[in-house]
Amino acid sequence: MITIDQMDAAPSHGGFPLDEFDESTRVIYVIGETDTGKSTFCRFLLKAFSEKYPTAYIDCDPGQSFVGPPTTLGALIIRRSEVIEERYLRFTGSTSPRGTLLQNLSAAVRLKEKAFEKGVSRVVIDSSGFIKGKVAREFHFNLIELLKPDCIAAFRRGYSVDLLLRNFRERDKIKIKTMDVAEEVTEKSIIKRRLYREKRFQDYFRDTEMGEIKINRFGLHGNIPDFRYPEKWKNILFAFCDRENFVVTLGIVSEFDISTRTMHFYSKPFNHREVSTIQFGSIYLDTSGKQIGRYG
Ligand SMILES: Nc1ncnc2c1ncn2[C@@H]1O[C@H](COP(=O)(O)OP(=O)(O)OP(=O)(O)O)[C@@H](O)[C@H]1O
Ligand SMILES: [Mg+2]
Repeated sequence: MITIDQMDAAPSHGGFPLDEFDESTRVIYVIGETDTGKSTFCRFLLKAFSEKYPTAYIDCDPGQSFVGPPTTLGALIIRRSEVIEERYLRFTGSTSPRGTLLQNLSAAVRLKEKAFEKGVSRVVIDSSGFIKGKVAREFHFNLIELLKPDCIAAFRRGYSVDLLLRNFRERDKIKIKTMDVAEEVTEKSIIKRRLYREKRFQDYFRDTEMGEIKINRFGLHGNIPDFRYPEKWKNILFAFCDRENFVVTLGIVSEFDISTRTMHFYSKPFNHREVSTIQFGSIYLDTSGKQIGRYG
């Protein structure tokens, strides 16, 4: 089990007025371009809040994911200030929100709802740096509409953040706090980002077993591969999900037998009875966790 002390958190609040927080500020949404210190700041807030309240950290970055493996959004729930007690994951199917906007949107909203269902009184939401350009801004706009944060904490860098924030300036129920990017923040190169994803996948799929399942017994959704072409199934990443569509475990298809509708796969051991649906993703992974292609 992870402890909060093992997390890389910002050393200070970076000018964020933590003391201004009253009981009505329960959901804080942190935005900013890539490499502005969002995640490190969110972990600072998590540490600070969880000393007083049951708190959830919601990770909405399916690329540089922190709670679960890449392609998932996750919630960590912390009740006793030190130890992380529960984790929930949603599968988006891709390492970027582009192309899976709906899955990212519903995942973020459902994770927030789940956190409140579990009795937290503070929710810190970490966003992805997918905020530049029309599509990304509109995605963020709708995410904010649905998540209904009491506060948006924004790292002041770039035109996109400012353009997005202008839409919420007149809202009485949303406080907007802008912050400067700390000088110590370092950039992650594209290669470093890819290596991070590979390492996270590798760790996730380290102790996998072979399994097989008749897919007709389950609900199927996501980017379901074409039944006419079994070769399109090989190596596709998917999630076994429970009846609420939270991830039971991720898996990689090894083979699909059309005639018997049997899917052979690699995954960690899991309880088959928990599985209600199979959600298919848009990327192909080899068993070491390396991305080897895209589907659709
Ligand atoms: N306040 C800070 N003081 C010192 N180092 C920091 C601070 N904030 C962030 N960093 C460092 O800068 C790097 C980038 O920070 P972080 O990952 O939090 O940014 P991000 O905006 O979440 O990036 P991404 O766009 O990948 O989500 C990390 O290595 C982190 O340790
Ligand atoms: Mg981040």
